[in-house]
Formats: sequence, C-alpha cells, structure tokens
Amino acid sequence: MSAKLIDGAALAKQLLAELGERVAALRARGCQPGLAVVLVGDNPASAVYVRSKQRACEAAGLNGRDIRLPATLAQDELVAVIDRLNADAAVHGILVQLPLPPHIDAARVLQRIAFAKDVDGFNWRNLGALVDGHPTLVPCTPAGSMLLLERSGVPIAGKHAVVLGRSTIVGKPAALLLIERHATVTLCHSRTPDLTVHTRAADILICAVGRPRMVTADMVKPGAAVIDVGINRLPDGKLCGDVDFEAVAEKAGWITPVPGGVGPMTVAMVVSNAVAAAEKSLAAL
Ligand code: GUN
Repeated sequence: MSAKLIDGAALAKQLLAELGERVAALRARGCQPGLAVVLVGDNPASAVYVRSKQRACEAAGLNGRDIRLPATLAQDELVAVIDRLNADAAVHGILVQLPLPPHIDAARVLQRIAFAKDVDGFNWRNLGALVDGHPTLVPCTPAGSMLLLERSGVPIAGKHAVVLGRSTIVGKPAALLLIERHATVTLCHSRTPDLTVHTRAADILICAVGRPRMVTADMVKPGAAVIDVGINRLPDGKLCGDVDFEAVAEKAGWITPVPGGVGPMTVAMVVSNAVAAAEKSLAAL
C-alpha cells in the first residue's frame, strides 16, 4: 500500500495517556472525573462499545459508572435515571448508548442530559455552540476524526473536504469542524446524484455511510486523506468499513483502517469530553 496508515489505536492510547495526566491533576485537587455510561437492553454491538468506553475510563483514571437497564424500561424511568445523574456531583459526564429500544423517544432522553455533562455533544445547546463556532462538548466520532487528521499532519485549511453522510452523530458535526479549520466542505448524502464527481474532488474524504466497502478506488483522488467511520459486519462475521481498504490504500495519501482507526479515537474522545467537563465543573466553583 502506498498511503500512510493512520493508526487510530496508537493515537488513542497516546491521547488516553495525556488525559491520564490531566486526571491526575484533577485528583490532586480532590476531583476524580466520573463518567456514567447508560446501556438500555442487551444489543451485543452496544455492549461491546460500552465495555470499551469503561476500559478507556480505567486506563485514564476516571471513575467509570456502568449502568445497565432492561430493554423493557419505561421512558419515564429512563428520564428519572438521567435526572438523578444530572444531580449527582460525582458524575461529570453522562452517555446514553444508542440505539435505544424503539418504544423510547431517544431525542427526549438525550435532550434531558444536562448540557455540561453531555459528553456525546448531542444536546442542542452544545450542537448550537458548534454551529456558532464556539465548540464546547463536541460529538466524539467527528472530534476524533479531526484529531486523527491533525496529528497525522494532513493539511486542512484551504483544502476541499467531502463528507459522506448527514447524521447528527457524525456527518453534520464533521462538516462544521472542518469549516472551523478553514476547509471548503461538501456534504453528500443518500440523495446526492453523481457521488463520484464529489468524492474525486476531495482532498479529505470522511466516509460515514454505513455501507460496506462502498467507496472504491475510482472514487478517490490520488493523495487524498480518507477517514473511514463505517463499522459494518460482513456475513462471515468480519468487520469492514465503508471504504474498500486494500484498493483505496494504493491510491490515497492517508487512510484509516477498520478496525483500529476511528473507533478507538471515538472512545478516547468520550474520555476527553468527560475530563473537560470535570475541569470546567471545578473552574465554575
Ligand atoms: N451509538 C453509535 N455511536 C454512538 C455515539 O457516538 N454515542 C452514543 N451515545 N451512542 C452511539
């Protein structure tokens, strides 16, 4: 392969070590950052993500609180759990793992999380701050993707970035973060005709579609930085991204693998947001 491999697992480990130093400084001031991760039901993929978030908390010295609730939980009961965590001074960050069971209104639950504890950055106040160019707690997957680009030395300012996917979790905040860093941004989605016309013009290509290997080598500009956010399970049980890794790695300038690319950075950014929330809570005293 000719592209430089962006090693998300190694960068996440480095970031967690840096965060560990900030946690030690907080603990010296009598504050151990606490992160509550709420899992409703037993979706196996969600259980894997939640476990990795708990492990990252341990690695950085946070107090990780693992809250498991039955899939049959009523919406009001979940809201009551959030209210208790909002009021708990030992909890600096709250994360409700998605997806939630269909009988629960996810938007209502997410908006209930106090904006100062919203480590996912999905609260409308935090999203609004990002739109207005004052990022506070920023959604973790796009924040991690930006850090991967920055720490790999990928030029961003003045470059053309193309984002595939318009979700609130990834696509929209990724576009906003790229604008903040002075990229020219095109956001493509399921109704975009002639996708390849756009992707071929991309110096930076962020792929967050959820379709296995849909980004093929002919869609990529030579030398581009390709960030693969997709995590798809193939019929044989193996994981793959939204990008045809082997072929695109021969053409791109930089590329992230799946697994071991964006995934570990997303987890590290959850911890980063929890540490930032704890620091801010002390500063406010
Ligand atoms: N499920 C998939 N991605 C995410 C995420 O970024 N945050 C939460 N809370 N759940 C998710």
